[in-house]
Amino acid sequence: MATPDQVIIFGASGDLTSRKLIPALLNNHIAGALKRPIQVIGVARSTKTHEQWRQEMGEALAPELREAYASFSSQLYWVRANAADSNDLHELGEFLDRLTEEAGGTPDQAGRLFYLALGPNLFGRVVSALSSQNLIDSEPGATDGWRRVVVEKPFGTDLPSAQALNRTLLQHLREDQLFRIDHYLGKETVQNILSFRFQNAIFEPLWNRQHIESVEISVCEKVAMEGERGAYYDKAGALRDMVQNHLLQVLALVAMEAPGTLSADDVRNEKTKVFRALRRFTANEVKNRVIRAQYIQGPGRERDYREEPGVDPESQTETYVAIRAAIDNWRWSEVPFLLRTGKALEKRFTQIVLNFRTPPVDLLNGPLPEGVCALRPNALTLRIQPDEGVSWSFLVKEPGAGMVMRQADLGFRYADLGVPKIPDAYQRLLLDALEGNATLFLRGDEVEAAWSFVDAIHAGWAEGNAPIWTYPAGGRGPDEADALFVGCEGIWSRGP
Ligand code: BG6
Repeated sequence: MATPDQVIIFGASGDLTSRKLIPALLNNHIAGALKRPIQVIGVARSTKTHEQWRQEMGEALAPELREAYASFSSQLYWVRANAADSNDLHELGEFLDRLTEEAGGTPDQAGRLFYLALGPNLFGRVVSALSSQNLIDSEPGATDGWRRVVVEKPFGTDLPSAQALNRTLLQHLREDQLFRIDHYLGKETVQNILSFRFQNAIFEPLWNRQHIESVEISVCEKVAMEGERGAYYDKAGALRDMVQNHLLQVLALVAMEAPGTLSADDVRNEKTKVFRALRRFTANEVKNRVIRAQYIQGPGRERDYREEPGVDPESQTETYVAIRAAIDNWRWSEVPFLLRTGKALEKRFTQIVLNFRTPPVDLLNGPLPEGVCALRPNALTLRIQPDEGVSWSFLVKEPGAGMVMRQADLGFRYADLGVPKIPDAYQRLLLDALEGNATLFLRGDEVEAAWSFVDAIHAGWAEGNAPIWTYPAGGRGPDEADALFVGCEGIWSRGP
């Protein structure tokens, strides 16, 4: 039997493990996607038996997974340890070796994926403790006996802290061992942005400033401060929590040039170029191009954001942000990228809308009077979630006398593919990390470039002349964000 690979989850008592990681590993097992058998080692400070942990993880699974789990659960093990304590990690190392040997393998053949589902303040200490016990030594390009570390977001809270974290981690790891996760990149529909653009020759010639007037990227959420989120969120805000990572990653995939190959470096080089070309706003631009707001009680929530548990009653943290971003390169110069994200909105949806320019001459109406806008008939919408799909809108003539036009759509829905369920992002990302494919993970320089864009906005806010607006929970967000569209550019899409 092949030596099993090992996935070691630090912070395994947190809900990410039961909600995402174990189901993702189990689904990969069910799909037969794992190249080698795996052993999953949960690590945290609480004491429990392997059997107790197996049972807890089983109880948290969706009912349809429970049958398959029966044959998988014996691969789960629990180790009580403080992840930043070298002695504890020494014992963990011995336990890992023993497990490998008991499964008939040799420790120097077993790949080990250390998953840090921990607060970012612990990353440095844990990696340095792992290194002190020689638990993360491996040769570049090793297919056996590899050692990799996955870190969850947030990766820093601004550029200096992200740089410091990169420096600390890279003292002990090579870049190719470090997998910085952004779960949006694991979403099928986010990956489809690249496939859609570069596997179809018909869209790419239109994908530029000549044909596209504006691009909208919306990540709207209905959730507010559920559970114990308030304390974390109040320090982060929408800009750090969502824009720096998820929205900018989606923006990069929409805006980047075609990579030479799909290798991790080729893709990440192109994304990084987009981040570098994103305009860093001056304080004045922040005022005119960024709208921030906080929810107050409304049909979607019985209390204001400032009344949420863990939130400062005087909080200035934004739960909504909208940005008229600019990419100063040849492809996108002067095409606004309108980004928005918020909590406690009326609907949950993530979508990208590419609004195309109007025909140069309107044959039906002739020149329009000054100040009257022509219809924008053509938009391409990529629906990331829910009701995943793609649609093209255009004008058609209504049958009958005269020339009356109406809007029509060509559409594709993932649901029509007959695939019962789109795999969860973590399923793909864990598989890629086990296989050493870093294309869907973030490289250090790209994370830093994304922070420098976000930092310029925080600096503008810190100057104190940008108001923080409010919006009722359960609505569409602050009306003030509408002003980010100028002239005839239109309005924010309503979502599905
Ligand atoms: C997380 C944020 O990274 O992404 C959350 O911290 C947010 O605040 C979540 O709710 C959204 O992810 P998804 O997959 O539900 O769109």
